[in-house]
Amino acid sequence: MTDGPHVVAIAGSLRAESKSRRSLEHALDAAAAGGATTELLDLREFDLPMVDPDEDTPPDAEALKEAVRGADAILLGTPVYHGSYASPLKTALDYCGFDEFEDKTVGLLAVAGGSFPITALDHLRSVCRSLNAWVIPHQAAVPKAGSAFEDREFVDDGLAKRVRTLGRRAVQYANIEPDPDSFESEANVGAVDR
Ligand SMILES: Cc1cc2nc3c(=O)[nH]c(=O)nc-3n(C[C@H](O)[C@H](O)[C@H](O)COP(=O)(O)O)c2cc1C
Repeated sequence: MTDGPHVVAIAGSLRAESKSRRSLEHALDAAAAGGATTELLDLREFDLPMVDPDEDTPPDAEALKEAVRGADAILLGTPVYHGSYASPLKTALDYCGFDEFEDKTVGLLAVAGGSFPITALDHLRSVCRSLNAWVIPHQAAVPKAGSAFEDREFVDDGLAKRVRTLGRRAVQYANIEPDPDSFESEANVGAVDR
């Protein structure tokens, strides 16, 4: 046990050899080295059908929400799918709401097969702001994922540093004083848990 913050990461790819999951592991290692307890939520282990507001929340979604609520800081990692973030992460986020994200520190990471992972990060930042989360300015982008790793380690030291810095910042800013509500959150009438 440590007195440090609890950092929870959600890995948004279902691929067995997911590079975004691997990247998050590096960020969580850095968070742990900074004194945090860490947990990686692997969406392959949750049975999450697409959200249907007419249905009761499935048990695995309740488990996911509970794990996210227990976090002081959250890391979201996603592959880039068609210039945005991936559907498994979208579904996980749609089960969550203000109860899970409001005033939480969130760090973002995206991994692309190509050379431009930035749009997925922009889109995730908007989602987090609509839930009144505090999004860390530093974000980690891993381009050309196919050649980014060798033996589970980043080939490029600069990239490794960017990813590890995200984990460190999650610890550093886990308990930051809440900002006033964002404009987008005030207009977010869908997330009814508030
Ligand atoms: C449906 C789909 C859409 C994709 N769209 C893009 C894209 O728009 N840009 C890109 O650079 N890579 C794209 N990719 C490639 C993934 O970003 C890349 O394979 C990444 O490593 C996947 O992350 P993962 O290893 O965590 O699953 C796409 C892959 C899939 C399966």
